[in-house]
This record gives sequence, C-alpha cells and structure tokens, in this order.
Amino acid sequence: MTSVIEKRQSLHRELAEEQCRNRKLAEAIERLEPLANLGSATAMIAHEINNLLTPLSNYAKLALASPEDKVLREKALAKTAQNCERAGKIMESILALANGQEQERQEAPLPGLLDELFLCLSRDFKKDGITVQIEIPAGLTVYCVAVQIQQVLMNLILNARDAMVGRGGHLTIKAEQTSDAVQIRVSDTGHGIASGDLKDIFDSFFTTKKDGDSSSRPGRGVGLSFCRKVIEAHNGTISAESRPNEGTTFLITLPRQH
Ligand SMILES: Nc1ncnc2c1ncn2[C@@H]1O[C@H](COP(=O)(O)OP(=O)(O)OP(=O)(O)O)[C@@H](O)[C@H]1O
Ligand SMILES: [Mg+2]
Repeated sequence: MTSVIEKRQSLHRELAEEQCRNRKLAEAIERLEPLANLGSATAMIAHEINNLLTPLSNYAKLALASPEDKVLREKALAKTAQNCERAGKIMESILALANGQEQERQEAPLPGLLDELFLCLSRDFKKDGITVQIEIPAGLTVYCVAVQIQQVLMNLILNARDAMVGRGGHLTIKAEQTSDAVQIRVSDTGHGIASGDLKDIFDSFFTTKKDGDSSSRPGRGVGLSFCRKVIEAHNGTISAESRPNEGTTFLITLPRQH
C-alpha cells in the first residue's frame, strides 16, 4: 500500500516538473517569436529589394554604355525613380506584415497593377522567346494592399520566366471575378515542377535553382513563401498545379470586400 502511495506521489512530482518545463519552453518560444519574424522579414525584404534593383542595375549599365541614346537614358532614369519608390513602400509593408499589423486595403484595378509591374521588369520577354498574354476584364479590381499583390505577381512572373528561359514559351495571366472572390491564374509552358517537389515549393528556402545552373539564376527559395504569407494576410489562397515538361499554373483567390 505504502509503495503505491509513494509511486503516485513520485508521478505527481514528475508531472509538476514536466509542466514547469513546458511552461518555460512556451515562454522561451514566445520570446523568440519576434526574432524569428524579424529574420523572415529581413529575408523577404532583401529578396524583394533585389527583385527591384536588378532591372535598375541592368538599365543603368545599358544607358552608361550608350551615352548618346537619350531615350534609353530617360527610360533608365524613369525606372530608377519608379522602383526606388516601390522599394521604400515594400520595405514598410513587409515589416508591417511580419509584425502582424493590419494594413489598409483598397480596391485596386488589376490591369493597372500589372502594367506598372511589367514596366518595373528589366528584360524584354520577347528576347527570351516568351510571349505574354493577359486576359483580364477591363475594370476588374482587387481589394488589397496593392504594393504587396504586385510583388506577389512579380515573383510568379519571374519564376515563370526562369522556367522558360532557354526554351521559350507562353506566359498567360488571366483573372475573373466570381460571386465572392477574384481568381488570378498565372500559367507558363516551362519545364514544370517534379511531382515530389510540388508539396514543398511554398516552404521557406526551398529552391531547385542552384548556383552554376545555366538555365536560371540561383534561387533563395524566398519568393513563394513570401507570396503565401501575403495572400494569407489577405485571407486568400494560393496553390499550384504542374506537369513536368509541360508547364505550371498558379491560382490565387482573393476575397471581395464585404
Ligand atoms: N513557374 C514555375 N515553374 C517551375 N518551377 C517553379 C515555378 N515556380 C516555382 N517553381 C519551383 O519552386 C521553387 C521555389 O520557388 P521560389 O520562388 O520560392 O524560390 P526560387 O525562385 O527558387 O528563388 P527566389 O525566388 O528566392 O529567388 C523553385 O526553385 C522552383 O523549383
Ligand atoms: Mg522565385
């Protein structure tokens, strides 16, 4: 009898110690969370600023190499002004996203967002044998933090281009309004995603673009995890379908404003 009581007391002691350890671990995790958020915000900011700086550097080099080309010089300056402004906005916006702050959303015209975005990109798609088709009803708007959704689309477009560089293909961007949401599809006819990789592509730091890979620039695996974070903050969804060697389609669904 005594031994049963002793055993029970010892179990109670162990349980109390375990609960104390769990509480301490939970407190430690809570203390580390802002740091982890800061880490992922830093990676996302660096990634998006890089997306905006690459075209600037390319245009500046071209303009410096042809000092007599006034049109090119003005184009380079216009891009510099435009992308610097976007870089400032996106930095603030990502920090707010990482801190879980509510950001003001507005109805933004999707065709206009895409026009602006294509102006920010450096390389002409035609030079890589890629045709671009945009099928969006005029006047279609999305309820969003515009600068964030533009960066999401930029990431999908850059990934699509990476998948088609060296082989050419078609990039199609379609959008339609359903009763309660806007659906945006970004499709390419690139090399596609291996079926085993599809479940991992939205994970932070998952990339198949290695240094020294001639078909595309090296990747960091930040683009799609950024996209998912933004779309989830908009209460939307993002998913991908792909067929190796045939192409990939990303589907974004963004709820309408209630
Ligand atoms: N359109 C696409 N076609 C084929 N594979 C894709 C496509 N989009 C994404 N992927 C795959 O998903 C991976 C993750 O994409 P993600 O944009 O997160 O990172 P990344 O492009 O490799 O690097 P980063 O965007 O950080 O420069 C890619 O490495 C690639 O394997
Ligand atoms: Mg990417």
